Amino acid sequence: MAESNRTASFTLDGKSHELPVLSPTEGPDVVDIRKLYSNADVFTYDPGFTSTAACESAITFIDGDEGVLLHRGYPIGQLAEKSHYLEVCYLLLYGELPSADKLETFETTVTRHTMIHEQMHNFFRGFRRDAHPMATMVGVVGAMSAFYHDSTDINDSWQREVASFRLIAKMPTIAAMAYKYSIGQPFIYPRNDLDYAANFLNMCFSVPSERYDVDPILARAMDRIFTLHADHEQNASTSTVRLASSSGANPFACIAAGIACLWGPAHGGANQACLEMLRQIGTVDRIPEFIARAKDKDDPFRLMGFGHRVYKNFDPRATVMKQSADEVLELLGIEDNPTLQVAKELEKQALADPYFAEKKLFPNVDFYSGIILEAMGFPTSMFTPIFALSRTVGWISQWKEQLSDPALKIGRPRQLYTGAAQRDYVDVENR
Ligand code: ACO
Repeated sequence: MAESNRTASFTLDGKSHELPVLSPTEGPDVVDIRKLYSNADVFTYDPGFTSTAACESAITFIDGDEGVLLHRGYPIGQLAEKSHYLEVCYLLLYGELPSADKLETFETTVTRHTMIHEQMHNFFRGFRRDAHPMATMVGVVGAMSAFYHDSTDINDSWQREVASFRLIAKMPTIAAMAYKYSIGQPFIYPRNDLDYAANFLNMCFSVPSERYDVDPILARAMDRIFTLHADHEQNASTSTVRLASSSGANPFACIAAGIACLWGPAHGGANQACLEMLRQIGTVDRIPEFIARAKDKDDPFRLMGFGHRVYKNFDPRATVMKQSADEVLELLGIEDNPTLQVAKELEKQALADPYFAEKKLFPNVDFYSGIILEAMGFPTSMFTPIFALSRTVGWISQWKEQLSDPALKIGRPRQLYTGAAQRDYVDVENR
């Protein structure tokens, strides 16, 4: 991080204060307010962190106005087209694209960690069958710290490395087991002869009694969904992981915190909420009614899968995802699906509506990912677990980066207190 030659100054009670300005490699300059409180005795107020950088990071860059998403400098479109998920995992974790040898070693290592401790199967069986798979995942991932004691010491770099491999490798197994448990089918063990995406599809859709061959086009589409969700800078769940980790919590607990945050419908839960909304709309003729509701200030309804905190032009992941959706639907021959017809028409009508244009609301990645996942045969309840398994590498990369940052401090935001001023306790008989 370089100091820029700019300074910011402001005057408070007639006294002038200067603040240093830092220059990132990409994006707007950042006013450094770390000494603001000690020098000027004021806090800043920024609910939702709309103007606040909470950390320094060299992993992912987003320019929301231009629709740019870079991982370690590489545009997401190029990675989605030319690379694959595990190579992107390596890139996010280590900062550079791997040589062929390094990639092979990395893939072998991840593949050798895909099984979970056998005793964890009993842990799964303690959940109700109708539990949401995200509820199961929060619990099981948090419980990994009870099963893998030899990778919970965050001060040991080797243990950090092993925890990273375990989380990336076991998350598909855990997500698939959560699914199988919810439908009453036997757990399917991982198969190390399959690639990461094909293995996940096999664990979700095969049964011991029948042969199941993974369609390579579906495996490619699955891999793309993983790749497009791999990391996204300091979003809510990543910031949650960083905040949990800032106290020194173990990696499994931190990632469980990230999963919990991702679950919400304003974040990773949007793909499930979007599909449910499309089904609720049901037929193309009802679209105007729902668009009108989304625009009505007195109605809390929002078009799920539309809008983004950072992208105010287009979501570059949505562009690739849309293309994948077309390929998958063509392959599966379900272009006439009613949900899909509603989705296509809703996209058209919303984009032509001045309300959405003025507020810069465009379909985000979740608008299309749900359509693909449904076509592949996943129930809506599995959409967010799939997002969680894809994002695990992003969370871990950011967690590792944070732990190696010499400026690491426990995250402790301040507040604008609006409660009662100090007052004296009143005995109960006098209230
Ligand atoms: N439908 C209708 N109106 C919307 C929508 C929407 N989907 N999204 C935002 N708006 C409107 C708001 O009502 C608000 O209007 P106002 O200025 O008149 O009050 C304005 O647009 C700005 O909205 P904010 O909520 O302030 O924007 P913010 O950046 O905080 O929210 C968010 C971003 C949460 C993603 C929001 O657009 C939303 O709720 N979208 C639907 C959920 C969704 O798809 N989430 C997935 C995000 S992508 C991801 O996690 C992978």
